[in-house]
Amino acid sequence: MKTHTLLMPLDMHLHLRDGIMLENVAPLSAYSLSGALVMPNLVPPVSNVAEVVAYKERIMAAVPNDNFEPYMTLFYKNYDKAFLESVADEITSIKLYPAGITTNSEGGVSSFDIEEMRPTLQTMSDMEIPLCVHGETDGFVMDRETEFMSIYELLATNFPKLKIIMEHITTKAAVDMLDKFDNLYATITVHHLILTLDDVVGGMMQPHLFCKPIAKRPEDLDALLSVALEAHPKVMFGSDSAPHPQHAKESCGCAAGVFTAPIALQLLCEVFDQFGKLENLQDFVSDNAQRIYGICPEFKEVTLEERPFVVPANYSGVVPMYAGETLAWAIESID
Ligand code: DOR
Ligand code: ZN
Repeated sequence: MKTHTLLMPLDMHLHLRDGIMLENVAPLSAYSLSGALVMPNLVPPVSNVAEVVAYKERIMAAVPNDNFEPYMTLFYKNYDKAFLESVADEITSIKLYPAGITTNSEGGVSSFDIEEMRPTLQTMSDMEIPLCVHGETDGFVMDRETEFMSIYELLATNFPKLKIIMEHITTKAAVDMLDKFDNLYATITVHHLILTLDDVVGGMMQPHLFCKPIAKRPEDLDALLSVALEAHPKVMFGSDSAPHPQHAKESCGCAAGVFTAPIALQLLCEVFDQFGKLENLQDFVSDNAQRIYGICPEFKEVTLEERPFVVPANYSGVVPMYAGETLAWAIESID
């Protein structure tokens, strides 16, 4: 039977939520990952040092093992230098959301006036705090990410030493940016390596595949696959696994988010194996992120095996991607 071993897998974009949801979903990620970059879009968002520290403690309390590191993020606002100095040791990056663009982002940035942002971004650059960005405008849904490229360009050229991570990229336009600016990096989800818009709304509408940014065109999928499968040194795996209760997804006004935490590594093996690129998966799920973020994760060795794995219908009331369907790879052992 074919097996594949991954060392210290990392998920560099994960929503763990809070309360009961946190208690239900965090163990699923901690089981197979060495660490994850945890998103700050709680209600209210994580935006001061006490909240970061307390949230990290709640995460650690929710996971059964201690060989899982939550890399914490702070919700971007135009913070001053004294504030950034007080919080720097507790965080791995700062996450910028355009105001109102997605779940719990109302307190985000409403104006991309570079001069207003300069003190914060220059200080982050000087302090080597990476900036993670949800890169969508409020334009036509299929064009939102592409329209945001001019803002990435503005940020990348004004702050050439600031590490900027284009989160969950979904377009060829974003892929093309990677080679244009030294300081731009990207995360890619596993669902965006599989889906196009057709899978979401081309037949009967699939609420569990609906997320922001929405899956795009076949040529975008091809561009994402081209950099992920080669483990382009500036791309990393970030699942954007975003759990919502079943009733919030299967409802009038479906919440955005695909829940992939319990199946992400299995699906990644399937995709990389399908294209004969399993040897590059280690870089994509760990080594690139270690280098880009300068992090040294907890030790974990995860062996996957090519055998059928039936995805559970739900995990404590949260429906995963491909619920009830059979995947080609399963987790065999974890050391
Ligand atoms: O689909 C999404 N869900 N996209 C995001 O940017 C946020 C996430 C969430 O928090 O549910
Ligand atoms: Zn996200």
